[in-house]
Amino acid sequence: MVSKTAVVLLMGLLGMVFQATQLPPPQTTGAAEHSPVTSLRIRLKDGRYLAYRERGIPKEKAKYKIILVHGLGSSKEMNFLAPQELIDELGIYFLLFDRAGYGESDPDPKRTVKGEALDIQELADQLQLGSQFYVIGVSMGSYSTWSCLKYIPDRLAGVAFVVPTVNYWWPSLPDSLIREDYRRKLVQWSIWFANYAPGLVYWWATQKWLPSTSGLERNPLFFNDRDIDILKTISGFPMLTKDKLRERGVFDTLRRDFMLAFGKWGFDPMDLSNPYPQNESSVHIWQGYEDKVVPFQLQRFVSGKLPWIRYHEVPDGGHLLVYYSSVCEAILRALLLREEPVSYRPRTARDWY
Ligand SMILES: *[C@@H]1O[C@H](CO)[C@@H](O)[C@H](O)[C@H]1NC(C)=O
Repeated sequence: MVSKTAVVLLMGLLGMVFQATQLPPPQTTGAAEHSPVTSLRIRLKDGRYLAYRERGIPKEKAKYKIILVHGLGSSKEMNFLAPQELIDELGIYFLLFDRAGYGESDPDPKRTVKGEALDIQELADQLQLGSQFYVIGVSMGSYSTWSCLKYIPDRLAGVAFVVPTVNYWWPSLPDSLIREDYRRKLVQWSIWFANYAPGLVYWWATQKWLPSTSGLERNPLFFNDRDIDILKTISGFPMLTKDKLRERGVFDTLRRDFMLAFGKWGFDPMDLSNPYPQNESSVHIWQGYEDKVVPFQLQRFVSGKLPWIRYHEVPDGGHLLVYYSSVCEAILRALLLREEPVSYRPRTARDWY
């Protein structure tokens, strides 16, 4: 908390001194242009390529088709540690893709919240997933997933949000809930800097003297004990290393993605109506009670506002639920088989809000 405040103050001070409003020019000979594309890709109507990866049962044989939407600094190589036996038993096909600008997908200079849903729809159609498919959106990939609920609800066979980020601009969030939330201030500051002083953010993110981001990744400010144990065994977020951030394409993608996810959307998810009024399927939110990136109080508020959302809480869960095999299994069982996961009922109503 203190260190974050210090960082924010430091950045503010530097902002005044530096007055950096321009980014360095893009390197036209960046590493990305040189390495040959190895992923499968589709070509979208507007000419951009979208890279994807398939997992699980071949789609022709699969009973369930699920599109997984990754978060900030992640990619189609993201983890979702569902047990292989379950995937085989239920017949699940997973489609993962690099959202625009990530991995081997082209950036979308006109990127919008709505465009995120349209990319998903076009991907599904080109790969012939049929009239409906499931969507699981993880962390910041939640904004693309809300966009699907808003713009292509008829295409969704069912939806699960896993540790979805909450946008402090949503008009119906009560002030009392967010006023004291230091994350809100961090996000506001970050947006301000990303907007008005991207050069400064770029410079700051690539400074040698700052602690490495792998240090930040293990910061107990953002992660609980279980998360930190997981981070010890994985390589972290490959895009968030200083070398990667130095590539202008990577930096620009992260910056635009973050600004869209936490900017104004033009709609409030809490005004959405139930896509399954006949109880044909279900929409779920999965949250860790100890998540430090997204506080459970906000998530409870969102699902309280939208009673058609099934809310599940992992008692000792942090932000990295996709690495908990048992939780991934419960997510799939609840979404596809509509099983009631009793061990993930939220704690007592007493400490709500
Ligand atoms: C909706 O369907 C599920 C699964 O078939 C069932 O368990 C649940 O009770 C139904 N809910 C309502 C409100 O009918």
